[in-house]
Amino acid sequence: MALRKARRVAVLTGAGVSSDSGLPTFRDAQSGLWAQYRPEDLANAHAFSINPLLIWDWYLWRLEDCRRAIPNAGHLAIVALEERADLTLVTQNVDGLHRRAGSAEVIELHGNLERARCTACRNVQILGPVVALARPPRCTLCGAMLRPDVVWFGEDLPRLALETARAAFTSCEVALIVGTSGLVQPAAGLARDAKRNRAVVIEINPLETALSNITDYALRGSSSELLPALLE
Ligand code: OAD
Repeated sequence: MALRKARRVAVLTGAGVSSDSGLPTFRDAQSGLWAQYRPEDLANAHAFSINPLLIWDWYLWRLEDCRRAIPNAGHLAIVALEERADLTLVTQNVDGLHRRAGSAEVIELHGNLERARCTACRNVQILGPVVALARPPRCTLCGAMLRPDVVWFGEDLPRLALETARAAFTSCEVALIVGTSGLVQPAAGLARDAKRNRAVVIEINPLETALSNITDYALRGSSSELLPALLE
């Protein structure tokens, strides 16, 4: 099929690709202590300005969850696909699992939980072991408070990352849209860019999404099973 012949493939992933690694998707109910909060109410600059400790607690809890998680067969299938085609991998996930699976280049549109950015001097640093961090964590250069280096609701995406992603989706022959509800712009617009450019758009998701109406093929099920099967 189209995927076998395609030279240029663009892949967009969302939280669903990490679901079988045990990480909840963004729109799943959160567990434990955090069940009373909606992610949208925590992942924003206003919430951080009011209660940085609460927001840091949430991010560090998620960071530890991600560090415990192991990439699944879906992440690994994308690595294998890289060897067969000119592939651009774009993710909305901040969990770092694509890199840990072995994907060489990952465009992380929403940042990465392993990084923090200084609220004063903007220095970016990698967070070490969670137990060793001050609460809230402080910049090693100037001592000001750090914030998670992720994109919050209402914030712009990193410009270069977005431009590179758009270029890939407007020039690919096949676009794989994996494990995303397609509700958040501009990431969801990438699927439309591909469609406009007459690429074959394949969705992998157990459920219908906001993008299902523009996809050429919808593969209904888990990406950890369907991505390896698609490769075969
Ligand atoms: P969502 O939580 O909105 O959607 C997850 C999608 O994964 C849903 O469509 C599920 O049906 C699907 N899914 C669940 N299990 C799956 C599996 N095993 N295999 C494949 N798909 C599965 O997550 P995203 O679309 O990633 O943004 O959310 C996009 C962005 O919205 C997030 O990055 C975040 C959020 O607001 C920011 O924080 C800026």
